[in-house]
Amino acid sequence: MEFIDLKAQYAALKTEIDENIASVLADTHFILGEKEQEFEEKLASYVGVKHVVGCSDGTAALQLIYMAYGIGHGDAVFCPDMTFVASVEPACMLGAEPIFCDIDPRTYNIAADSLEQQIKAVLAEGRFTPKAIVAVDFIGNPADYDKIRKIADEYHLLLIEDAAQGMGASVQGVKCGALGDIAATSFFPSKPLGCYGDGGAVFTNDDDMDRLLRSIRVHGKGKSKYDNQRIGLNARLDTIQAAIMLPKLKVLDEEIAARQTIAARYDQAFDGKFQTPYIMDGMVSSYAQYALLAKDNKQRDDIIRVLKENGIPSLVYYPVPLHQMKVFEGCFMGEETFAHTIDYAQRTFSLPFSAYLTKEDQERIIEAVSAAASQN
Ligand SMILES: Cc1ncc(COP(=O)(O)O)c(C=O)c1O
Repeated sequence: MEFIDLKAQYAALKTEIDENIASVLADTHFILGEKEQEFEEKLASYVGVKHVVGCSDGTAALQLIYMAYGIGHGDAVFCPDMTFVASVEPACMLGAEPIFCDIDPRTYNIAADSLEQQIKAVLAEGRFTPKAIVAVDFIGNPADYDKIRKIADEYHLLLIEDAAQGMGASVQGVKCGALGDIAATSFFPSKPLGCYGDGGAVFTNDDDMDRLLRSIRVHGKGKSKYDNQRIGLNARLDTIQAAIMLPKLKVLDEEIAARQTIAARYDQAFDGKFQTPYIMDGMVSSYAQYALLAKDNKQRDDIIRVLKENGIPSLVYYPVPLHQMKVFEGCFMGEETFAHTIDYAQRTFSLPFSAYLTKEDQERIIEAVSAAASQN
């Protein structure tokens, strides 16, 4: 059994994906070719933003944003303590200080009260200037933008949406990717909209920002690649990857609908036995992961072991909160104890999940998880 069934998705979309790859091979515009531009336009219209800037991966997308806004030495960037390191790593590379915030114990997204407390702590300490908040749509569940937007406005902070895990998800009908001042996503193969290698994108409604991002994406180019106006990156999206995603984008909403059905079956089976995902009213999760919380660390590890013995894969997203990582030793932590993030990391485990998960496989998983839990 696959953890994320990319083979079944390929089988369903094979004809169109193969044709699209063949057309790129035939016209040989391998980098930022026609299909890449078509993909940018179609994705912009799907998400409901003016511009999509395709790039080499999600980390590069975030780096383009941090560079375009001039974030660097002396700046504080606030992010949830429970996310992939890439949410904030490119800001650190530019010299900014990462400031971690605890998560909400129900949604696992950045907690507004912790965010505000950390902003105040940074201001009181005085070494860093608060500049940006990175709100992550963690495992596909949109962050609480109503609350975060108010805080961003009050403290004049840029609100960056890290929608790497949130493509297809939405808040009151507004798609993830359109919920911050600017947003980034990843097309890593296992993401809700994934390519067959690395890929990413930035989303913006601002024409000047769009031009700047396109310049930084290609070595800070001006009128041409050899007219360099600023320090940039080589962070372009391959045409083949865009061509592969065009058919996937067409079925994304259908897949998101299927994900709701599959998640609802898991919810029903595990209600009362585990903490099941909490999606706020008006929100739709992409369920990039379907995560349960066991009663404690021992039960979680026992379940993972039993599943493995039964040939059922499971994963932990993520086992270590950012504030505990060696790379961030010595960073400013404010007064935060990160109690909810620590608890989450101890108890979370994710089950096989994709729009193509069969009912039979899902029943097998549910039985195995329930049997393992009853032994504890
Ligand atoms: C929340 C989050 N941000 C950023 C990234 C970085 O994306 P990529 O792996 O495409 O560089 C990822 C990918 O795992 C992610 O999950």
